[in-house]
Amino acid sequence: MIRMATGEASMSHVPVMAGEVLRNIGAAPGQRMVDLTVGAGGHAGAFLRATAPTGTVVGCDRDREALELAEANLIAFGPRVTLRHGDSASCLRALLAEGVAVDAVLLDLGVSSMQLDEIDRGFTLREDAPLDMRMDASEGRTAADVVNELPEAELARVLRELGDEPRADRIARALVERRARRPFRTTGDLRDLVEQALHRRGGRIHPATRTFQALRMLVNRELELLVESLPLALRLLRPGGHLAVIAFHSGEDRIVKQWMREAAGRGEGESVSKRPITPEREEQRSNRRSRSARLRVFRKADAS
Ligand SMILES: C[S@@+](CC[C@H](N)C(=O)[O-])C[C@H]1O[C@@H](n2cnc3c(N)ncnc32)[C@H](O)[C@@H]1O
Repeated sequence: MIRMATGEASMSHVPVMAGEVLRNIGAAPGQRMVDLTVGAGGHAGAFLRATAPTGTVVGCDRDREALELAEANLIAFGPRVTLRHGDSASCLRALLAEGVAVDAVLLDLGVSSMQLDEIDRGFTLREDAPLDMRMDASEGRTAADVVNELPEAELARVLRELGDEPRADRIARALVERRARRPFRTTGDLRDLVEQALHRRGGRIHPATRTFQALRMLVNRELELLVESLPLALRLLRPGGHLAVIAFHSGEDRIVKQWMREAAGRGEGESVSKRPITPEREEQRSNRRSRSARLRVFRKADAS
């Protein structure tokens, strides 16, 4: 049985800034998009409606459960949708090798609401579960492997750089001391240890939130995949096509901004807006997850 953090079968994910994405990529009938993080298919469905009757989407996700959900949610679009399993960089490499060119590429980064809500995936600190956090459950190290094996200095660096955790050294020290006595196995183990190390419990933002975020980003190689994917995505676009990236983490947004600036400097295209696009107040009110979202869109140069 799947255990849900909300106590209900919340198998949904509200797509963030779907209208802004469509407007800024200039979605029009007949276009083709690659959605590298298809999730529950929210953005893909919006694109398919805007590009009816012949627009198409290739949807990729490294999480097989997400693909099953996308398949169910997008079934009405029939052959206009193709789904593939794999991370964004592998998916792009495969499409480039097939000689595909598209009008738009979308990256909606991070975790989905379904992943957070499914307790046994180990993403949430709200309930006790195996300390896993892998988006692709078939490969790589779990979060438990990482906290039980990484050297102390490396753990501190990860917490600081990926979690923006100001007390990274103290937490890393406590993790190493505790694992020498008993290895970490569950989300509850980790949450309790961070609470003890920081002498803080609960609160509006839980003291272990930054630690969980940092470990999730490391386990899933989120920044590395982003860096690898941006130039590949640009290659996959037809001249004049658009790359849209939604980031929820300042480190991710910094990478996207810097890459777009450098690509523009090389004459490969230009950003459609100087500043990142943020959700309207109404969306921020109705979908808390959207509050930290930053959308950046890059238009590939026309063929010369
Ligand atoms: C924020 S959700 C996307 C939600 C989707 N836009 C929607 O409207 O339903 C992110 C999804 O992308 C997947 N994901 C995150 N990073 C990925 C990457 N680098 N490559 C492939 N999939 C990734 C996650 O497994 C998750 O299902």
